Amino acid sequence: MTSIGWGKVILLGEHAVVYGYPALAAALDRGVTMGAIPTPKGGPLRLDVPAWELAVTAGSTADHPVARALAAIADALGAGRPALSLVGEAQIPHSAGLGSSAALAVAVARAMLVAANRAPDPALIDAAAAASETLLHGRPSGVDAALAAAGGVGVFRRAAGLRPIPTPPLRVLVGPSGMPRSTSAMVEAVAAAVGGNASDARLAELGALTDDGTAALLASDLPRLGAAMSRAHEVLAGLGVSNPRLDSLCEAARAAGAHGAKLTGAGGGGAVIAIAPREKEAAVLTEWRATDVNGFVATIGG
Ligand code: MEV
Repeated sequence: MTSIGWGKVILLGEHAVVYGYPALAAALDRGVTMGAIPTPKGGPLRLDVPAWELAVTAGSTADHPVARALAAIADALGAGRPALSLVGEAQIPHSAGLGSSAALAVAVARAMLVAANRAPDPALIDAAAAASETLLHGRPSGVDAALAAAGGVGVFRRAAGLRPIPTPPLRVLVGPSGMPRSTSAMVEAVAAAVGGNASDARLAELGALTDDGTAALLASDLPRLGAAMSRAHEVLAGLGVSNPRLDSLCEAARAAGAHGAKLTGAGGGGAVIAIAPREKEAAVLTEWRATDVNGFVATIGG
């Protein structure tokens, strides 16, 4: 039996969500699946994800951040160090702003519970993913972990968690820039830009754009959702988390007819997203491909 953690895109509200504002986020139709193979002769707790060239052992590769995250997940589950070989299949790139670390953590936690014949307690899975995310990213809002576990589309707030919302299916164009980035470095960059002030007008505007974009999504008003996304990109760029490549991928999408485009996730690299009329999607993907970005269409909601 395999266990899944979903990848995600943040449509609106990244970074502001760390300060208590809402984020509109959606699970992708792909993520990380995990199988657990018992190693009855003993041996360490291992994790292999060949697609990411990741092979770690809880404990003995303690200098590897994912090895420490694996140990943190096992501790949060109160699982000790079972003799298990966890083997993951990743359908999303890592370090691309698509929630790969949270997807991995949720898939690992679920697979370890299955292997131990324990119930898939959502609170325990959340706690395990939070322990891993805190170790890897500093002070995460929890939006990635919530989506990785729950799937679907929702509005996430730090204080209230994920509120699922019923949306019509939405096609989102995802363009991984190929530039890796560090979520914690980007979160620190925003903290420096706003001087740690949660009332900063730029954060408040990102929160208001999330509200407006959520209303637009619920009304299937894609031009209005796209406008909110493009404005959010400008505000995020003003906070220092974009770069020329992400800016030009967004500009290329808009020039090819997209309703709107923005960076998604922490920024500084990672991915951009765009929404476009169906007949313009191919043109957006072609523009991206001309700059070595293999974009794809993900359907969210519905
Ligand atoms: C990362 O996917 C989203 C950020 O808002 C960080 C977080 O919410 O923890 C940048």
